[in-house]
Amino acid sequence: MPTPRSVAVLVGSLRKDSLNRKMALALAGLAPALQMQIVEIGDLPLYNQDLEDASPKPAQWLAFRDRIRPVDAVLFVTPEYNRSVPGVLKNAIDVGSRPYGQSVWIGKPAAIVSVSGGVIGAFGANHHLRQSLVFLDMHPLQQPEMYIGNGPSLFGPDGAIIVESTRQLCERFLRAFEAWIEKVK
Ligand code: FNR
Repeated sequence: MPTPRSVAVLVGSLRKDSLNRKMALALAGLAPALQMQIVEIGDLPLYNQDLEDASPKPAQWLAFRDRIRPVDAVLFVTPEYNRSVPGVLKNAIDVGSRPYGQSVWIGKPAAIVSVSGGVIGAFGANHHLRQSLVFLDMHPLQQPEMYIGNGPSLFGPDGAIIVESTRQLCERFLRAFEAWIEKVK
């Protein structure tokens, strides 16, 4: 049996009851062929280019870059804040993209899942994020699109996805992501 591909999962919400974190954990449970691990981004100092030239650089930046560099792929699971990407996630992307010429994102297959409480499924964040990933020379999966609305009704007390159509979509998404990782690599 082939070694499962390693996937760093970045969650764009820091709150403890985050629907997006629940989705990330549920996806990890549905994907035995992928080794999915959440990489925490809440303690990354805000990107400031002056600190790049400082000695030492922020230890959290270095640890984050070291954590992302070896993975086979990256999954972003994010809410939408004011029709865009939450600052905490944008900051993590910026931190990983520097120093100039040493971005940890280059060439990696990626996927975006966005979860909201409303019906639009954080479409705006999903597509703003896609714009950054394309610029960073990542390869975001195109289909199936994962705009997941009505977040509060999706999960049971144990965190499992209880809406059958959403669970099936997630399984289809994971199969597509697995195939995409192999294709890009
Ligand atoms: C939001 N929310 C939100 N929802 C949405 O569909 N479009 C939006 O533009 C925004 N904007 C926004 C800004 C800020 C600052 C907050 C705190 C919230 C609502 C948001 O989608 C909802 O709180 C989600 O449940 C947040 O995701 P987590 O924390 O549950 O993963």
